[in-house]
Parts: sequence; C-alpha cells; structure tokens
Amino acid sequence: MKSFSRLAQSVSFMRNGSKISLNDKDPNLEFIGKGRSAYVFKIKDENVVLKVFFSPYEHLAKQEAEIYKALEDNSYYPNLYDSGVGYLVIDYIEGYTLFDCLVKGIEIQEKQIKEIDHALLLARKRGLNPSDIHLRNIFLTKDGQIKIIDVARFRQVKTCKQWDDLKTAYLSFYRKKMFPKKAPESILNLIALLYKKNLIPSFH
Ligand SMILES: Nc1ncnc2c1ncn2[C@@H]1O[C@H](COP(=O)(O)OP(=O)(O)O)[C@@H](O)[C@H]1O
Ligand SMILES: [Mg+2]
Repeated sequence: MKSFSRLAQSVSFMRNGSKISLNDKDPNLEFIGKGRSAYVFKIKDENVVLKVFFSPYEHLAKQEAEIYKALEDNSYYPNLYDSGVGYLVIDYIEGYTLFDCLVKGIEIQEKQIKEIDHALLLARKRGLNPSDIHLRNIFLTKDGQIKIIDVARFRQVKTCKQWDDLKTAYLSFYRKKMFPKKAPESILNLIALLYKKNLIPSFH
C-alpha cells in the first residue's frame, strides 16, 4: 500500500466558480463523504479514512490534527493516525450520521443526546470550544455509540450555538410521539439553509 502522503497527493480537485468537484484519486481510495472544506475517502482494506482539504482550507488539516491529538484517548472522537499538508488520517466510523438517521428514519434516543452533551463536555475539559456541531458531524455507530468528527473549529473563540439549537428542536419537536422520525433529504437541506440564513424565528 502507498503511504498516506502519496495517497493524499493522488487527490486533485476541479473548481467551477464556487463549485468544487473531484478530478482524480488513487483507486485505493473510496469516496465516502464531502463537507464544506474537504473530501473524505475510505482506504481500501483498512479501517481508516483519508480527509483531503481543498483550497482555501488546506491549513485546517494541521489545526484539526492538533485538536484530535488534544482529544486523544477519548472514545467519542476518532483516533488520528497521520497528518500532513492538506490531509489527515483517522478511524473509519461504521454507522450513520444523525442526518442519515433522519433520512432513513432511524430513531435518535434521548440517551444519545445526553451522550453527545457528555462528549462535548469532555472536549471543553481539555480546553476546547466545540464548534460546528451539526447533524452531519455526529455519528451513531452500528452498536449505538456516539462519535463526533470534524473538530477543526474546536479552537475558535466565537460561541457556536448549533448544538443548543438542535437540542431545543429535539426536545420541542422530535421527541413528541406524533412527530415524524423520517424526512426527505431535500426538506432537511432546506431547513438547514433557512437556519443558516437566520430565517427560523425560534432560533434567533
Ligand atoms: N471518519 C469517518 N468515517 C466515516 N465517514 C466519515 C468520516 N469522516 C467524515 N466522514 C463523512 O464525510 C463527510 C465530510 O467529512 P467532514 O470531516 O465533516 O468534512 P468537512 O470538514 O468538509 O465538513 C461527513 O459528513 C461524513 O459523512
Ligand atoms: Mg463536516
């Protein structure tokens, strides 16, 4: 197997205006996700993923790697195995993000919400400021465990209220018996967009 750094170098992106797409990658890399700043690939036959940041976010690789080091030995966060210019390597998490859970109708339980709170508290105890905590950055594993990823912004100074707002939505709506536990992806994306634009009155 090629080194992690060689695998990261095999990844190239294409930009079309503000849209980023994948141009090339090594065949040992299997695409599993994309976010605001990076593409994530599972490395074939290994239980790890390679996160490759696209421009102008390459600097986040170093920051995120440092934060994973600060969270070492905490089972709520993946282990870090390697990092370099524009990339990092962490545990592959087998399961669904909370976003996927909503799309698939997998019920999210109150004890899991409490566990997420606990995971964030442990990060705070290590001097971090958990930020960017949203449905696509929280996993529910096959055996019901919580894992939090995308910790790059855990050292920002600004307070992030996304998790508090998500909890409010959980307690006020989702938890109610009649509230639907499954929603189409397009509707969830629309709600996320309205939230980002501050257009949901209860979360001002
Ligand atoms: N360790 C992992 N195991 C499994 N899937 C992952 C892992 N890391 C990221 N992903 C998937 O890739 C997506 C993007 O990763 P993320 O680290 O959140 O990137 P960004 O910083 O660009 O938001 C996630 O929402 C998730 O679906
Ligand atoms: Mg993310």
